[in-house]
Amino acid sequence: MREVTLTILKPDTVARRRVGQIIARLEEEGFEIVAARRIKLSEEQARAFYAVHKEKPFYTSLVAFMTEGPVWVMALARDNAVEHLRKVMGATDPAKAEPGTIRALHGTSIERNAIHGSDSLENARIEVGFFFSAADLV
Ligand code: CMP
Repeated sequence: MREVTLTILKPDTVARRRVGQIIARLEEEGFEIVAARRIKLSEEQARAFYAVHKEKPFYTSLVAFMTEGPVWVMALARDNAVEHLRKVMGATDPAKAEPGTIRALHGTSIERNAIHGSDSLENARIEVGFFFSAADLV
């Protein structure tokens, strides 16, 4: 089933000029980029986006990281998009991610792990809606 999921190319990816390589990989994997925007998250946006993690010990540091520089937010469409993106990204910790996954190739720590992807179809709808309106998804 064709799904739309949300990805964020995180500040580490933008700072290290890895955006092009990662977008090329996503297209090779069959994703269609149906919306994309470069933004700098405000502290309020980062806090709200990651609200599910607000009790975690890494929350404050995560918000600081996600607001340190620009990111690319993108809506990606494909059959089985949510699960396929999770597979292509690899485990949260780049050191534990399967070789060849985006996080294994481009992440440098469990926090600075290059890319975010929605973890369920329900969260994908919420996260796509956080950044894009229906009219943006062309
Ligand atoms: P992401 O998949 O975007 O979801 C939560 C983010 O928190 C995660 O990627 C990492 O960037 C960051 N993070 C930092 N420390 C941890 C940790 N110990 N476990 C999970 N996520 C972490």
